[in-house]
Amino acid sequence: MRRTLALLLTIAAAVPLSAAQPVRARHGMVVTRERHATEVGLQVLKSGGNAVDAAVAVGFALAVTHSSAGNIGGGGFMLIRLADGRTTFIDFRERAPLAASRNMYLDAAGKATTDSTVGYRASGVPGTVRGLAYASQKYGTKPWADLVRPAADLASKGFPLSYAQAQSFHSGARTLGNFPESKRIFLRDGKFYEAGEVFVQPDLGRTLDRIARLGAKDFYEGETASLLAKDMKEHGGLITLDDLKGYKAIERQPMTGTYRGYSIVTSPPPSSGGVGVLQMLGVLEGTGYEKAGAGSATAVHYMTEAMRRYFADRSEHLGDPDFVKVPLTSLLDPGYIKRLRASIDPEKATPSSQIHAAKFDGHESNETTHYSVADGDGNIAIVTYTLNGGYGSKVTATGLGFLLNNEMDDFAPKPGEANMYGLIQGEANAIQPRKTPLSSMVPTIVLKDGKPVLALGSPGGPTIINTVLEVMVNVIDFGMNVQDAVNWPRFHHQWMPDELRMEPGYSPDTIALLEKRGYTVKPTRAQGECAAIAFENGWLLGAPDPRTEGTAEGH
Ligand code: GLY
Repeated sequence: MRRTLALLLTIAAAVPLSAAQPVRARHGMVVTRERHATEVGLQVLKSGGNAVDAAVAVGFALAVTHSSAGNIGGGGFMLIRLADGRTTFIDFRERAPLAASRNMYLDAAGKATTDSTVGYRASGVPGTVRGLAYASQKYGTKPWADLVRPAADLASKGFPLSYAQAQSFHSGARTLGNFPESKRIFLRDGKFYEAGEVFVQPDLGRTLDRIARLGAKDFYEGETASLLAKDMKEHGGLITLDDLKGYKAIERQPMTGTYRGYSIVTSPPPSSGGVGVLQMLGVLEGTGYEKAGAGSATAVHYMTEAMRRYFADRSEHLGDPDFVKVPLTSLLDPGYIKRLRASIDPEKATPSSQIHAAKFDGHESNETTHYSVADGDGNIAIVTYTLNGGYGSKVTATGLGFLLNNEMDDFAPKPGEANMYGLIQGEANAIQPRKTPLSSMVPTIVLKDGKPVLALGSPGGPTIINTVLEVMVNVIDFGMNVQDAVNWPRFHHQWMPDELRMEPGYSPDTIALLEKRGYTVKPTRAQGECAAIAFENGWLLGAPDPRTEGTAEGH
């Protein structure tokens, strides 16, 4: 009897019971963190658009309905897999303005200021409009105006705010209130919006209307560009008309790897996420960690040790590949991964002070949002894009109605010292004109035998990489359905600070076991959000994240 119970408990730990159900559809699926944007994407699919068309339309819609992270004043990454198996990656991340320089955020005493996080000087040159236009022209099928118009309408006619959106404006008040345009638009000059009130954004509606009629050219060379450059000049910002005119989206080869017979298609630098996910999976493969079961102290231990080691490497080696040599081959070298794995003590945490980035000989060749779209023909387009912090720099461009990013803080404002996310980063990610700040965003697609199994991504600064890793292994190693995998409590370690942040949901016993192993466990309220689609026998399974108001809709 006792043995049977023990066996049952072991099984329960290893294969979690499926409690949550994803949204199922056959002909198209859109998963975003805001319902109006999800609906916009679904309508594009229903009217014959492909996954890229829908992703473009969702990108603009979220800029209206998810003000803290959806954007046209920021940047991001789109990972595409076409029905014929081709994959590509569009990098439309912000770039440092021409006037940017390595020490621009240091005061006379060499101390880092807050200018990289708030105010006009915090913004990199926005890439979203160019990136969405590039994707639409090369991989979409619908007229551009049809993809921007729904967002322009949502802005000019308005939409009812949810409870969380109204709350979010309240909580952003202290910082948004310092910038008159942000105060006027999001705080209604102190007469705060309540849930259910219709939020109308006429300035943003006009900007989007111009973009719908005139294309990305308006944002980079036209009236929007001129107004933005003028506003920057008047407020000590760095972005000029030349910066805007010179902005280009870059199409890159995705990174690829394998894990337990699955193929992984993921994000290359300037994302630090793809190499991170692949290195950590490599370290985990062969440890047998999964036998201990999802949520067990042993599984958390091995995953945390893999995270700690990767983030140490990230701090030193990752940066914009167009400016620095990123030693991808060395970071993913099987011999190096084996050494990393061997350095893990099966019983004890390794203090981060004992972990250092590898030395290679050099010969080798945060608020953010993610959404996922799949169409019925087999095309997939998934996007993570961002203003960086919630509401970015907190600056709304005068008369234009959109928030500007604070992506300059994703550089190392002072190499060797922690940035806004507590990330320590080195010279590889130091500021240079036109350089791209290192990102953790990592849209990723998992395939088996050449067929898609899972498409996913997450916001959350450095936690993005670990969230994506955790949802992937929840599906691959722990056999969860996609919704359970997204819902499952998460944890995060980023080498420095040497602490393990854990969401609610882990038992006190597990936490006690981890503390006994040497971890400093810190509770965290919620770690990112994941918007995933799984693919199963012709079905598309959409999994929004219950941590947010995300929705999945299919047809
Ligand atoms: N701004 C968050 C990231 O790109 O990692």
